[in-house]
Amino acid sequence: MNAHDKSFVEGSALTAEELAMLNRPTCEAQGLPGRAYYDPAIFELERQRIFAAGWVGIGFASDVPNVGDVVPVSVAGWELILVRAKDNSIKCYHNICRHRGMKLVKEKGNVRTIRCSYHCWTYGLEGNLLATPSIGGANEGQAPGFDPSDLSLVSVRTGQYLDVVFANLDGSAEELETYLAPVRERIESTFDFKLLKPTPPGTGRGSRNFAVNWKVVLEGGIEDYHLPFVHKSFDHSKDYSTEMCGETYSGFSSRRSLSEAQKRYSTKAADGHELPFFPKMVETGVAETVVLFVFPATIISCTPNYVSLSLQLPLGPELTHYTSKTYFIGDSATSDEYKKLREENTIYWKQVLDEDDGPWREVQKMARNREEVGIPSRFSPHWEVALHNFQKTVASKLSATK
Ligand code: FES
Ligand SMILES: [Fe+2]
Repeated sequence: MNAHDKSFVEGSALTAEELAMLNRPTCEAQGLPGRAYYDPAIFELERQRIFAAGWVGIGFASDVPNVGDVVPVSVAGWELILVRAKDNSIKCYHNICRHRGMKLVKEKGNVRTIRCSYHCWTYGLEGNLLATPSIGGANEGQAPGFDPSDLSLVSVRTGQYLDVVFANLDGSAEELETYLAPVRERIESTFDFKLLKPTPPGTGRGSRNFAVNWKVVLEGGIEDYHLPFVHKSFDHSKDYSTEMCGETYSGFSSRRSLSEAQKRYSTKAADGHELPFFPKMVETGVAETVVLFVFPATIISCTPNYVSLSLQLPLGPELTHYTSKTYFIGDSATSDEYKKLREENTIYWKQVLDEDDGPWREVQKMARNREEVGIPSRFSPHWEVALHNFQKTVASKLSATK
């Protein structure tokens, strides 16, 4: 942390003055300091107080569709495995062998057992330690006094909403259902998720790494202020509202006519084919988009024709893995007739993220300089109220004494 910052609130990553300035009205408030985007000590606090203490979207149920499917997940330095167990439930374990701590699963696959590559300790899909080859001598799989029964893989508490698998590493968070109740209340009456189907692999916004802090990625999506300045295909929404619910979510919504929405989200092809709208939109003639950034880093992006679920998984203070899936309505998710539109949607979003990448890198690079000079960021009171709310939520976690 910066040497000239003396008056830290006890146990906090921010000074009392920084907290006070952040908590002022949006038009006057000063944002998180530069070091919040690179300082390993602050990242460590986020790791514990945000990514271990709350519910975090870590993967997609559709990534482990079949019994025996395994996928390794890395989030803020926590190494985990998602597994589809024999009873079809999704389990999450720490990806750590109970022998010498080897990382067990290194890539996505389908397995009957989870076998460590070091000394071949072998675990069942339910996490139980099944075999310890030669532990008692050559070809002797048992050893006197050694009890494998309490050496199962260490489980992590999980839950699921839509296709997102959430994990609560420290086990202390409220029930996931309680946490997500305001999210469901906001979107489920407008967007009928039962109609959605996942698209074939390779469709949608995909997965990629951004060489920036996870908050830079999140803040880059949470405001529509930059749209016409950075993105070729977007203009400013005239009917734009902030969406916020305390520390649960921040976000925005916008409304436009059905034809304007088709143009904006590129959902009508030159040959006249168009993606179907959610029935509610057709009924009212108003196309609504609601994008909720569920704290800390799960984005539920509901457009009039499709929904994207995106996760931002920090890999380090200055590296973030972004992974996203898109779900279209009914047949438009899978049928050949809509293939071209789905492909166009993929290209469209790839371009949007490519356009974002440049400014995000610059902001990341300048964070050190900004910290040295002592220049705080500011907010647009029209476009960035939700972004401000997000930063206040981060600050409240970082300054809470535990
Ligand atoms: S570290 Fe896994 S079996 Fe030895
Ligand atoms: Fe953008």
